[in-house]
Amino acid sequence: MKIAIASDHGGYELKQKLAAYCSAQGIETDDLGTNSSESVDYPDFAEKVCRVVLDKKADFGVLVCGTGIGISIAANRHKGIRAALLYSLETAKLARQHNNANIAVFGGRTMSFEDAAARLDVFFKTPFEGGRHIRRIEKTDLYGGC
Ligand code: RB5
Repeated sequence: MKIAIASDHGGYELKQKLAAYCSAQGIETDDLGTNSSESVDYPDFAEKVCRVVLDKKADFGVLVCGTGIGISIAANRHKGIRAALLYSLETAKLARQHNNANIAVFGGRTMSFEDAAARLDVFFKTPFEGGRHIRRIEKTDLYGGC
């Protein structure tokens, strides 16, 4: 499996830990920055990961900002991206089963590494259920102008 991961400054520390965690598990991990705690703009880093996922150069993306909210909003403006802010183990599972989410999002100032890593494990291993959820994703794309 291959992933692309990025953050702004608010998510930098958690992103570093999650990238190392994924690499240690043998997941090919493309770290697209940011590379310090210096202030940057989260849409720039959402764009980098979305591009790689949409070009199918990674199976999943991982994004982190301070709350996970801004970078989720930015990522979800990209056609074909379904970025989910994972705030529990249950939502990590349902984001894959029901929403076929292709980017996992975390808040570096609101979540611990331990919680985020456990949610990421669930996210990666859970398949999309398909069925009725396909129609709902298609409607979401349609109403969103995709
Ligand atoms: C940056 O200070 C902060 O606004 C950003 O990381 C994120 O939390 C925005 O939603």
